[in-house]
Amino acid sequence: MNRVYIKTYGCQMNERDSEAVGAMLRRRGYSLVDHESDADVVLLNTCSVRDQAEQKAIGKTGYLAKRKRTDPGFILGIMGCMAQNRGEELADRLPDLDLLVGTQKFHAVPDHLDNILETQKGLGPQPITIVDLDAEEGSQNTIREHLADKRQVSAFVSIMQGCNMNCAFCIVPKTRGQERARPIGAIVNEIEELADGGTKEVTLLGQIVNSYGRREIPIREGKSPFVQLLERVQDIKGIERIRFTSPHPRGFRQDLIEAYRDLSKLCEYVHLPAQSGSTRMLKLMNRPYSRERYLEIVDSLRNAVPDMYFSTDIIVGFPGEKERDFEETVDLFRTVAYDMAFVFKYSIRSGTPAATMEDQVPQRLKEERNQRLLRLLEKSSLVRNESLVGTTQEILIEGKAKRGNLYRGKTRGFRTCLVPATERLIGELVPVCIHRGTASALYGDIVLGGVDTVEPLLPQTL
Ligand code: SAH
Ligand code: F3S
Repeated sequence: MNRVYIKTYGCQMNERDSEAVGAMLRRRGYSLVDHESDADVVLLNTCSVRDQAEQKAIGKTGYLAKRKRTDPGFILGIMGCMAQNRGEELADRLPDLDLLVGTQKFHAVPDHLDNILETQKGLGPQPITIVDLDAEEGSQNTIREHLADKRQVSAFVSIMQGCNMNCAFCIVPKTRGQERARPIGAIVNEIEELADGGTKEVTLLGQIVNSYGRREIPIREGKSPFVQLLERVQDIKGIERIRFTSPHPRGFRQDLIEAYRDLSKLCEYVHLPAQSGSTRMLKLMNRPYSRERYLEIVDSLRNAVPDMYFSTDIIVGFPGEKERDFEETVDLFRTVAYDMAFVFKYSIRSGTPAATMEDQVPQRLKEERNQRLLRLLEKSSLVRNESLVGTTQEILIEGKAKRGNLYRGKTRGFRTCLVPATERLIGELVPVCIHRGTASALYGDIVLGGVDTVEPLLPQTL
């Protein structure tokens, strides 16, 4: 009765939370399985950022709940953002749920499951839904365990929880609560342990990483707490690559730009959410920067690190978005020549200011704008990958590719690369000469010798 399957929806933070819950459960004697059909307990870790994500999880819950009719011992729980966002309403709507756990209570999951199993032993099926959604001081410090049996070549590390911004479209401040940072020492210890276990790359996670620790940790020699943290991670032996997601354009200061220049392990890649290329829309979205300021950051990064790679988040069809606003986003895409982007169609999130704004944009227009940006993205991604043909890139081999006999890895610029390799090279940094580039991947062969310095790719007109 102790086989658990955790299904994760949404962002890397959710993936990381699920992993930490999995590790805690395993330590408590539960085993983790890869398929829901093999599990006695299914936990859905949910996302609320868009309606579609919530609907998916609700559909899945309905489907799984059927199993309870023939298998009363089966346990079903919902964790994370949707639990927090919808609260008890979910328990009312889905009476078969055994467990509803919010974003500050992941660490309580093992206790709750133990209790449910105890109750079942005595009384038969769990009679009510256990609901645990409160805020908890210090809960940011509980997301620290990793699944130690598997070597993680590349690992996520949660450095903070919550967000104090109030973007008009976003439900995250409600689901994740106020910004809370973990201490630098705890994060460094966690990464040292990962490095001891063979991890080569870490991605530091937070809703808005460049505001990390700004209330708890003083600025030192002009360096923000986040840059101080990066410097500490740079010094960890065994870690070869550092990434983070996501910074906010507000507070993206010179110290962080210089960190890209000075810290050899900090990869030349940044995910910098723009949301829109129109200053008018940014104001309506309550994003405290202008198009010009955003482009200034892009330029400073390119000046500091000529071979910089950029990705972004964009929302199309935010209330009031006119054709001329959207054209400014198109223009931003051309100017920055993004290597990657997540383009979202605006989704009404009830309780956020944008939900009740006038001038909601018709679905058809959102769809058209979405498609247009995706086409541009495909072009810029292809141009970038083709520009790498003939160069030698450092690839961190992560594992076997899904198809064929190839292995997959990433360049420092976060481009996926497929190469013939061997099992033994998993977790190694190898020089690969690129012979082909498509919009989604690079193909190459491992070579002896060093990697090239690549000529900077100038923003091109697509
Ligand atoms: N600061 C976080 C953002 C979390 S939400 C981070 O980057 O880590 C992730 C993205 O979802 C946002 O950047 C935004 O582009 C998108 N998003 C948020 N709310 C949305 C909504 N209501 N409709 C569509 N997209 C949304
Ligand atoms: Fe959401 Fe804006 Fe924070 S997108 S997570 S409110 S920075």
